[in-house]
Amino acid sequence: MVKLTGYKKIKTAVFISGNGSNLKSLIKFSKTRKSPITINLIITNNPKAKGLKLSKINKIKKKSFNFKKKNEIENQMLSVLKKHEIKMICLAGFMKILSRNFITKFSGKILNIHPSLLPKYKGLNTHQRVLSNKEKYSGCTVHFVNSKLDSGKIILQKKVKITKNETKNSLAKKILKQEHKLYPRAILKVFSL
Ligand code: GRF
Repeated sequence: MVKLTGYKKIKTAVFISGNGSNLKSLIKFSKTRKSPITINLIITNNPKAKGLKLSKINKIKKKSFNFKKKNEIENQMLSVLKKHEIKMICLAGFMKILSRNFITKFSGKILNIHPSLLPKYKGLNTHQRVLSNKEKYSGCTVHFVNSKLDSGKIILQKKVKITKNETKNSLAKKILKQEHKLYPRAILKVFSL
């Protein structure tokens, strides 16, 4: 997909809407020698996102966009991404759907993490639906983003076992822990493709 030239790392933007624990794990990974990416920009639709605090600590620029006028906003985002020479985007708990036009501009260079074993349980409220269906396993998936929700090509998945007294909170916690390991591994895989 994205080829590395010399020792130059790929400038990446991470899009978040909330806690940013995946952002945190991606920042940690990006600082390792083996990482093919650096994180140069954090983008959010939510100026109150907790994860934004990672911007200051790690000296990474942040930008907040109000998604009410999506088309206009996406054009503004595209110029900000261009200005920062961003070549790859990692969605990490980003709760807005990007338009086909935006995705085409970064074709094959947008990744997302989803807390289920896709193609099962696309969309929201995954853990509750998994438990209501009495599934034995759930997990998480890193995939390329295309214009259909949670439907792009799968890069990596991690399965977790659902225990007897599992609640949606315990399951979310268990899966999130795996997400933090899976996203960096998926990025390494993308660069070795
Ligand atoms: C994660 O479970 C991710 O898979 C989902 O939203 C959650 C974000 O968590 N899309 P965090 O903001 O990275 O802590």
